[in-house]
Amino acid sequence: METQEKEKYIAAIDIGTTKVVAVCGKVHRQPKTDKVEKIEIVSYGISKARGMKRGMIHDLRQVIDSIKEAAEKAKFYDDLNIKNVYVGISGYTIRSFPMQHHRLIPNGKIEQRDVDILTQEVYKTAVKENEEVLHVIPYNFVIDDIYEHSNPVGLEGKRLDGTFYLIVSDLKFIKGIRTAVKQAGFVTKKVVFEPLASAEAVLKDEEKEGGVALIDIGGGTTDLVVYHNNYLIYSKVIPFGGNSITLDIKNAFEILHSQAEEVKVKYGSAIATKKMEHKTIEIPGIAGRPPRRLTQYTLSVIIQARATEIIDTIFEHIKHFKDNKQLAAGITITGGGALLKDLPLLIRYRTGLEVRLAAPTIADVEDLNKPQFATTLGLLIKGDEYEKQLNETDEQDQEMDEKQTEQKQKKNFFGKLGDLLNKLVSEPDD
Ligand SMILES: Nc1ncnc2c1ncn2[C@@H]1O[C@H](COP(=O)(O)OP(=O)(O)OP(=O)(O)O)[C@@H](O)[C@H]1O
Ligand SMILES: [Mg+2]
Repeated sequence: METQEKEKYIAAIDIGTTKVVAVCGKVHRQPKTDKVEKIEIVSYGISKARGMKRGMIHDLRQVIDSIKEAAEKAKFYDDLNIKNVYVGISGYTIRSFPMQHHRLIPNGKIEQRDVDILTQEVYKTAVKENEEVLHVIPYNFVIDDIYEHSNPVGLEGKRLDGTFYLIVSDLKFIKGIRTAVKQAGFVTKKVVFEPLASAEAVLKDEEKEGGVALIDIGGGTTDLVVYHNNYLIYSKVIPFGGNSITLDIKNAFEILHSQAEEVKVKYGSAIATKKMEHKTIEIPGIAGRPPRRLTQYTLSVIIQARATEIIDTIFEHIKHFKDNKQLAAGITITGGGALLKDLPLLIRYRTGLEVRLAAPTIADVEDLNKPQFATTLGLLIKGDEYEKQLNETDEQDQEMDEKQTEQKQKKNFFGKLGDLLNKLVSEPDD
């Protein structure tokens, strides 16, 4: 699509552990508030993810093929002629931490440019050699060691200190993803940490303000992000998800993976109750062997055990936010794994926090308004946000260039005038 840039159509590839989704769409925002109103989907394509394990590349060739298949289905190659894509990733090597950095303000007035430079510098600061910074998210700013501001632009001061939240990833992993995307025929415009995208698609403003833990339960990973006072304050990737549950079922009943997946979705529950003992499930035997029989109760006991382990691991990470009263909204769950029956109930029971199961509602294609596409849609929003920032930086650069040219011209004029005056003063008028 030659008009991809001009028309603000964003293309994204969500590389999950169970599925890869290629999507192209346009984000419509309310003119005044800039809030996302609707996502107009141009096309999308889904393929079964191959070559990924717990959010990491296991077989590069297979990852490339999965991307190609999804892109093909989304008509990225011929009809749309997509070149640039936003790429969503997750993985347990991704870590996050806060960092402080400062900048002296030469002219005593803080401009957007100062904030941008400060942020850019943090991108380049010392993380481990084998890591790359994916996101630098401003948390707050302090002017002249005293005044705290969330947005310091336009204020006076000589020193600006910023606290940022950094999300960094293993360099080899990112390189692998970029290579896979490139070999599939695209340029990675930006790699986005997936739960940040999911948050954009499903979290409500009041949740972010009051405090919320968003848990995106995928196939291979469970991603956690915590927001409070509208800021991201924590993130963590846990290398277990819905697939771990499926695998437990497969092993416990000695059935095929596809059968285990089917019974989990159809009959499984996160809470095993005695009345489930009366429901018998019959699973066809392998290659004509006798069928296996299990009750919904035994199935759900297996599920409950693993779901409890995942929830308790997550709760270890958010417990102190609860104790600090930073989780007024409680927990929001999304991702395909969140569809497990009675999961909100089990989470409420294990954590004592209120739970909301969230699916996006913003796509104009109903099939995408499901928890397993929260990241996919969020990537379009993140992409749109990023494009806007790039445009603003371009405009600022242009403004800066114009200012500098003006100043240079003035300098030249006064320089020449000064030269002339010097000449007149120093030349004896005999
Ligand atoms: N109705 C359902 N009940 C229980 N589990 C479900 C249901 N629907 C989907 N799942 C599970 O959701 C998981 C896939 O979720 P999702 O599509 O969000 O993952 P992904 O994006 O491919 O992976 P990841 O985000 O971990 O990289 C699978 O484990 C699947 O079994
Ligand atoms: Mg996912």
